[in-house]
Amino acid sequence: MLSEPFYDPARSYQDNFEHGPFGLFADTRRIPPPDEISHSFLGLPVATPFGIPAGPLLNGKFVKAALDKGFDLPVYKTVRTSRYPCHPWPNVLAVKVDGNLDTGRTLVASEDYGEPLSITNSFGVPSYDPEFWQPDMADAVRHAGPGQVVIGSFQGTKSENGSVEAYIADFVTGARLVKQTGVKIVEVNLSCPNEGPANLLCFDIPRARAVVEAIKNELGETPLLAKMAYFGDDERLTEFLREVGSVVDGLCAINTVSATIVDAHGQQALPGEGRLNSGVCGAAIQWAGLAMVQRLARLRESLGLKYEIVGVGGVGDAAAFDSYRRAGADVVMSATGAMWNPRLAQQIKEQAHEL
Ligand SMILES: Cc1cc2nc3c(=O)[nH]c(=O)nc-3n(C[C@H](O)[C@H](O)[C@H](O)COP(=O)(O)O)c2cc1C
Repeated sequence: MLSEPFYDPARSYQDNFEHGPFGLFADTRRIPPPDEISHSFLGLPVATPFGIPAGPLLNGKFVKAALDKGFDLPVYKTVRTSRYPCHPWPNVLAVKVDGNLDTGRTLVASEDYGEPLSITNSFGVPSYDPEFWQPDMADAVRHAGPGQVVIGSFQGTKSENGSVEAYIADFVTGARLVKQTGVKIVEVNLSCPNEGPANLLCFDIPRARAVVEAIKNELGETPLLAKMAYFGDDERLTEFLREVGSVVDGLCAINTVSATIVDAHGQQALPGEGRLNSGVCGAAIQWAGLAMVQRLARLRESLGLKYEIVGVGGVGDAAAFDSYRRAGADVVMSATGAMWNPRLAQQIKEQAHEL
């Protein structure tokens, strides 16, 4: 049974930002902290290796609610070095997928949110100015209890003149601003638009390498996670891991899988230019997240690398958490599943076998 989502797709992003979170996340009671803390992630003590990835936790209020409900690794939604607008509403719609979703499919969207739940989300990675998000993120960091770690996610913004130097410099500034909030782990979103040949930065491997090296240089000892998209090809993935996996401290896989999204009449479902295709997440991409985690674990071994693995994609219950842990995930996160099930962290603490 799906609960009232803590992000309400029927409302605008702004309305959610100002008035959310909703449902059980609006109740500020905190579930009791654990008696003992037996896990660690990137050298930090963690009560349960489970959290919410970048996206659904729009601001400090959402992050604090997630901490209160036992999501011990919440990620504050991806920010930028300056204000950036959100795509027009709607930003989230349900999609009907038969079986597993691979790339290049056309899906029909609706407002009929049922199980197994898959959605498309299309925000364009909006951001407030650092003057707002730095103190807000710092406040969320202070709310973490024992065994809880808030992660700060960011990405660079394409420069107006297409300069690669300016693009990389913006990532470095972003990393510095996020670190200044006191977060103990920084995540860079590499599954974002690129200033160059490949459409996503993670698929432009030399550029992705230059970006993570520059960020790591700025961060010093603070651990760096890189968020990546699904790679279909093992050779490209191996090259990515040699170049990027050898620099970062952890890899978070996967981001959404792209599809063409239409309404019941076959027309573009999300209004505006460039929104015919958008990212799909939830149940239909679980296979892809699990496959990536297995490959990341296998290649870490064969390439002699050390990154930790964050498994993401279609986790809706304790059994899916267990599957990810068995596949080799050091920690697991859920976006879509957690949005419609605010008790998911508690259920995993009670029911999971792979803790
Ligand atoms: C509402 C929403 C917003 C998202 N925004 C971001 C984002 O800002 N940055 C990012 O790296 N991923 C973002 N994602 C992708 C998620 O972090 C995650 O990779 C993806 O949803 C797959 O996980 P799931 O199947 O559990 O939803 C977003 C996802 C959702 C549902």
